[in-house]
Amino acid sequence: VKRITTHILQEMKNRGEKISMLTAYDFSMAKIVDDAGIDIILVGDSASNVMAGHETTLPITLDQMIYHASSVVRAVNRAFVVVDIPFGSYQGNSTEALRSAIRIMKESGAHAIKVEGGAEIKESVVRILSAGVPVMGHLGLTPQSIYKFGTYSVRAKEESEAQKLLEDAKILEECGCFAIVLEKIPAKLAKKVAETVSIPVIGIGAGGDVDGQVLVVHDLLGITQEFKPRFLRQYADLQSIMLEAFGNYIKDVKNRDFPNEKESY
Ligand code: KIV
Ligand code: NA
Repeated sequence: VKRITTHILQEMKNRGEKISMLTAYDFSMAKIVDDAGIDIILVGDSASNVMAGHETTLPITLDQMIYHASSVVRAVNRAFVVVDIPFGSYQGNSTEALRSAIRIMKESGAHAIKVEGGAEIKESVVRILSAGVPVMGHLGLTPQSIYKFGTYSVRAKEESEAQKLLEDAKILEECGCFAIVLEKIPAKLAKKVAETVSIPVIGIGAGGDVDGQVLVVHDLLGITQEFKPRFLRQYADLQSIMLEAFGNYIKDVKNRDFPNEKESY
């Protein structure tokens, strides 16, 4: 199989082919997502919520992200693997940011990193890119700044914030980022960003007029149940399927139905 590269992703935008992206945090899931033919796998710091049960993405560490990322990389043959640099391992200064990016690339074998923010982290983005590491930007609702925002509601509804977001997108493009994620912003603004910058813009809760879409894989599968924002389309109800399977197993064990003779040595 032909591996997806930043070059291929750019070609997709150029010819108007939408880019598909999903998260994964472990080997088994990543293998299925890759076999399905996804273009980009994001080892998101949403692992902090989905894998570890934290309320926010802030607690997950660089070591934990590297553990998740290396598990995903071992499973993937085709997809382009992007890893979130977690909160606290790049905001300090550009040297720290570069060191964290290099650790992720060296220790996990991933293909690129993602950082949240625009103008504020420009120096770090440039530094990481200068080391040859592809960088994906992330603007709009940036969960690492949740305590600054106070809520997970739609971002950039006001003109001033929308203007700053557009400027930040241009800055990220000028720095050399290969793509930008836009999270939970008005579709009209996302469309404008995707038309303004030449690099791929991938949306989550950013409408259909962008160059690709990303979702958290456990949300798409209906494994996470409480989280039902309007932007989420649930493609399966795995929670029900799993509950039934586990229930049947428990029943069979209790009833001495499992294991039977054929299942014994
Ligand atoms: O961590 C994550 O899952 C993300 C996506 C929602 C873009 O950053
Ligand atoms: Na993230």
